Amino acid sequence: MPGLTLGDVVPNLELDTTHGTIRLHEFVGDAYTIIFSHPADFTPVCTTELSEMASYTSEFEKRGVKLLGFSCDDVESHKEWIKDIEAYKPGRHVTFPIVADPDRTAIRQLNMIDADEKDTAGGELPNRALHIVGPDKKVKLSFLFPACAGRNIAEVLRATDALMTAANWVPGDRVVIPPGVSDEKAKERFPSGFETAQLPSGKCYLRFADVE
Ligand code: BEZ
Repeated sequence: MPGLTLGDVVPNLELDTTHGTIRLHEFVGDAYTIIFSHPADFTPVCTTELSEMASYTSEFEKRGVKLLGFSCDDVESHKEWIKDIEAYKPGRHVTFPIVADPDRTAIRQLNMIDADEKDTAGGELPNRALHIVGPDKKVKLSFLFPACAGRNIAEVLRATDALMTAANWVPGDRVVIPPGVSDEKAKERFPSGFETAQLPSGKCYLRFADVE
């Protein structure tokens, strides 16, 4: 099965969600969007993880980042499950849509299947994939966790910040010089010079430049 990976454009799927039908590209629009899958409704790790995501919603909103959850059960099941998620930690609200995908079409196309997990009828279940999709609809960053291990949403936020800081670099910010750039090329690119960290290995791979 071909896998969705960094740099790939996400397919423009039509998706049935708890907020109605959406097209993935239109949903992403001009925003960074986090799409994240869960193995199943009414399961323990998924419930605590979605509750955590709900508690971080305002942090993602502040950054203009959209959230879109996936779980295979149908919309009615999701809506009942959301009541449990919100009751588990009162005050946390699931305000983002959750995709329903009972026939697994979307999760297959988004590389979100866990080959080692099956439902009671032997059907495929999603893994815990999380892709941050850029406004160009390309995957910028991915997490891939198995059903048994929950993601740390604080780490999702940190990774989002790291990604957006790199993407939103502005003149005046310090930059790290990538390893593929030789010192000679770095001198041409940064005429006012760059700083090389002195490390025990003696290797000169950690270089910083100020850019005017
Ligand atoms: C869970 O959320 O705890 C879970 C869901 C499916 C398989 C294993 C664990």
